Amino acid sequence: MQIVILTGAGVSAESGLGTFRDQGGIWSRYRLEDVATPEGFACNPALVHTFYNARRASLRAAEPNAAHHALAELEQRHAGRCLVVTQNVDDLHTRAGSRNVLHMHGELQKACCASCGNRWRAADQMHADDACPACGALACRPDVVWFGEDVRSMDRILGSVAQADLFVLIGTSATVYPAAGLMQLARDQGAQTLELNLEASAAASVADRLLLGPATEVVPRWVAEWCRTNGLE
Ligand code: OAD
Repeated sequence: MQIVILTGAGVSAESGLGTFRDQGGIWSRYRLEDVATPEGFACNPALVHTFYNARRASLRAAEPNAAHHALAELEQRHAGRCLVVTQNVDDLHTRAGSRNVLHMHGELQKACCASCGNRWRAADQMHADDACPACGALACRPDVVWFGEDVRSMDRILGSVAQADLFVLIGTSATVYPAAGLMQLARDQGAQTLELNLEASAAASVADRLLLGPATEVVPRWVAEWCRTNGLE
């Protein structure tokens, strides 16, 4: 039995990290073209660093919540493979104990060099005039995926989705591709599909089952139910 779980900003909302498209969300306060595109970075790197420095500071103050912990527990108890594919750039799944996590939109706490491709742990504060520790180029950027760039680990994600018996979508609006298309893909390839969300996502019509509510309530409840029905208590 192989489980693939796709998470989005909603799973971290109750840890105090903002979502993007909810009322008051990040994209109501910033233009995504300014802070989440290669063109925006080329135009004003200082603004982009300020944006990600603030998000890194929020992340340092945040803790994994009951939803992250429940998913880590599911991975631990489940005898088969359980993979978390996250669109989130935070590290809360890992801090909760999940070991099998793919960050398809990169990681806030890593930096990379746009010139030589070197990656390293990001400083709390990154600046436009930081030099790459490997090649010295002034081309340091957060190691996150921006609009127009390729997502990470897509081959592994597609391979896992093809093998999945159960696909679970949690806390994402399912509006950004390719993540938004994964539940449909899983279902087309024979997986059962489940959505756990505060509000139904754009992909909800391909969910075999939809459970609505805050992640810290719905996710632990579903994991407990899953463990019970699969004799894992
Ligand atoms: P969105 O902000 O688009 O969607 C957040 C989802 O979480 C919505 O479905 C909400 O209903 C749900 N939600 C909010 N609070 C919740 C809670 N307490 N419990 C459960 N669900 C809750 O965020 P994403 O779908 O993650 O990409 O956004 C996808 C991508 O768009 C992000 O990775 C980011 C963004 O632009 C890049 O920056 C490349």
